[in-house]
Amino acid sequence: MSDAKKLYIKTYGCQMNVYDSERMAEAMGGAGYVQTDTPDDADMILLNTCHIREKAAEKVYSELGRFRGLKAEKPDLKIGVAGCVAQAEGEEIMRRQPLVDLVVGPQSYHRLPAMEAKARQGEKPLDIDFPDEDKFETLKNRPKARRAPAAFLTVQEGCDKFCAFCVVPYTRGAEVSRPADRVLSEARDLVERGVREITLLGQNVNAYHGAGDVGNWSLARLIWALNDIDGLERIRFTTSHPNDMSDDLIAAHGDCAKLMPYLHLPVQSGSDRILKRMNRSHTAESYLKLIERIRAARPDILISGDFIVGFPEETEEDFQATMDLIRAVNYGQAFSFKYSTRPGTPAAERAQVDDAKASDRLRRLQALITEQQRAVQDSMVGRDVSVLFEKPGRFEGQMVGKSEYLHAVHVANAGVQVGDIARVRIVESGTNSLAGEML
Ligand code: 5AD
Ligand code: SF4
Repeated sequence: MSDAKKLYIKTYGCQMNVYDSERMAEAMGGAGYVQTDTPDDADMILLNTCHIREKAAEKVYSELGRFRGLKAEKPDLKIGVAGCVAQAEGEEIMRRQPLVDLVVGPQSYHRLPAMEAKARQGEKPLDIDFPDEDKFETLKNRPKARRAPAAFLTVQEGCDKFCAFCVVPYTRGAEVSRPADRVLSEARDLVERGVREITLLGQNVNAYHGAGDVGNWSLARLIWALNDIDGLERIRFTTSHPNDMSDDLIAAHGDCAKLMPYLHLPVQSGSDRILKRMNRSHTAESYLKLIERIRAARPDILISGDFIVGFPEETEEDFQATMDLIRAVNYGQAFSFKYSTRPGTPAAERAQVDDAKASDRLRRLQALITEQQRAVQDSMVGRDVSVLFEKPGRFEGQMVGKSEYLHAVHVANAGVQVGDIARVRIVESGTNSLAGEML
């Protein structure tokens, strides 16, 4: 063990990057690396980056600058940039930051060990291809170590929707679904290693259409197949597009016991004029109708969303339409962003909204969302929920986990193990979590 090299990975952005970072660590495990949680003793540093907003992309360059001292002390240290900034700005990264030894795009992670070897020879490999082979399947030497009870599993990547603000169709490419049998065998493997909850991931996960032995698979069919795996207790999926919420998927929310009552369904805006300019191909009304149908199938479902304020040409009236939609839905959770101009996307060419105005709208929208989130969380007090315990809490005997609604719940003197699922009565609603008592 002592001669193992150390790999430090820092992950930015979405859950798909978290999953990819795990796969990169596994790939490098095959090349003799073990993971470390500090860059200070690392032999290799990997930044798994996000390109979705300008700020996220800029962070990479400031982070890289911070490794200058380390690299001076340790000339053998290799620094790599992975993820969507690598895909979008690979050559520029190499030019702008000579500290970088290798650049690897999101579809080439299985090639990392070979790239690392090249970097050790003094080359500066750059691979931002979209290769034919499946990056998940060619990863060998996966360690069979025990896993935390909740895991991510990427089933679909890329996007064909081309929302006018979004870089994803360019950085992650066209929509691709992994074959159903591979997803299911990976799920079984996860369960054997202690996983009890799987969150299926995809940029447009509900557009999943993986090939299988018998016909094509929808996300709903995949969920039902996962439902049959003994030992797997909970299923979630994210992120979904309103237009791909098919009837079978809505029905599964009512009928499939292992599918958790939580749905992240971004709408972005409540103004039809802006939705059209965003190329979203749904209206505020069609979204509200859809929410109604989902709630008819599963009345207690917690709805989550994404919002962009200050999209080009957005007026106060458009913004008020978004506020109205939020009031109509009543979100239990939401993520909201000030529009960020992304070069190469259609919206970048349009009349931009004054920054101060956009900031003010974001502040007002977040105040409303926070109010709704609080009310939904507070309404849990007195209710009984099921909690999957994920780790010990800060205090002796305390355990923390997630309810079926994805609320963090902590329980004093819980007397349970990590990975246990138990019924809990909620007794208090705090700032970011609920307090419960074992039933
Ligand atoms: N500016 C601001 N927010 C954006 N998102 C995507 N692109 C942009 C952008 N250019 C947000 C959307 C999406 C979430 C992942 O990020 O709300 O749903
Ligand atoms: Fe981006 Fe729209 Fe695709 Fe989501 S659906 S990844 S926001 S282009």
